[in-house]
Amino acid sequence: MKKTVAHSEVHISKLISPSPKYPTGRVHAGEIMQLMYDTARQVATKHAGTNVTAIRVDEMLFLHPLRVGTVLTCHAYLTFTGKTSMDIEVNLYVEGLEPSKAALTSYFTMVALDEHHQPTTVPGLKLTTDSERIKFEQGKQRYALHHTVAKNILL
Ligand SMILES: CC(C)(COP(=O)(O)OP(=O)(O)OC[C@H]1O[C@@H](n2cnc3c(N)ncnc32)[C@H](O)[C@@H]1OP(=O)(O)O)[C@@H](O)C(=O)NCCC(=O)NCCS
Repeated sequence: MKKTVAHSEVHISKLISPSPKYPTGRVHAGEIMQLMYDTARQVATKHAGTNVTAIRVDEMLFLHPLRVGTVLTCHAYLTFTGKTSMDIEVNLYVEGLEPSKAALTSYFTMVALDEHHQPTTVPGLKLTTDSERIKFEQGKQRYALHHTVAKNILL
C-alpha cells in the first residue's frame, strides 16, 4: 500500500555547543554529514518499515561556515521511490540564517533490506501536492541518471 510523503517526513534539531574541539568556532563537516545521514535514515526506515542501508549520497557543498553555538535543524523527506530504493532530500537549516533558505541540501539513496540483508520492495509514494509531484519527477531523473552512471562503470 502506498504511503504519503508526510508519513515519513522527519525534523531533527541539534545544538552544537562551544567546545575546545572547535578551535575555529566552526562545526566539523563530518558532524553535519552524520546529522543529515541520521535524518535520512529515519525517513527511509519509517517509509520502508524494514532495515535500510545507504547506497549513495549526492554532493554536499559547504557554502556557509556553520558556527558552534547555533541550532542546526535537518528536515528530510522522500522525493521518489523505486522498487527497493528511496530518494531522500535532506535540507539543513541554521538558526539565525534566512529561515526559508537551506544552508545545505543533499540527496540520499537508501535501499530497504530484508532479514537476509537483500534488497526488498518498498511501498510506493502517494503524492498529494504539486510540489511533491515536481520533486518526484526530479527524483526519477536522479534515479535514471544513477542507473546510466552505474551501467557505464560496469561496462
Ligand atoms: C545496497 C545493496 C544491498 C544493493 O545491492 P545490489 O546487488 O546492488 O542490489 P540491486 O542491483 O537490486 O539494487 C538495489 C537498489 O539499489 C539501486 N542502486 C544500485 N546501484 C545504484 C547506484 N549506483 N546509485 C543509486 N542507486 C543504485 C538500484 O536502482 C536498486 O533500486 P530499485 O530496486 O529501486 O531499482 C548493496 O549494494 C550493498 O550492500 N551496498 C553496501 C551498502 C552499505 O553498506 N552502506 C553503508 C556504507 S558502508
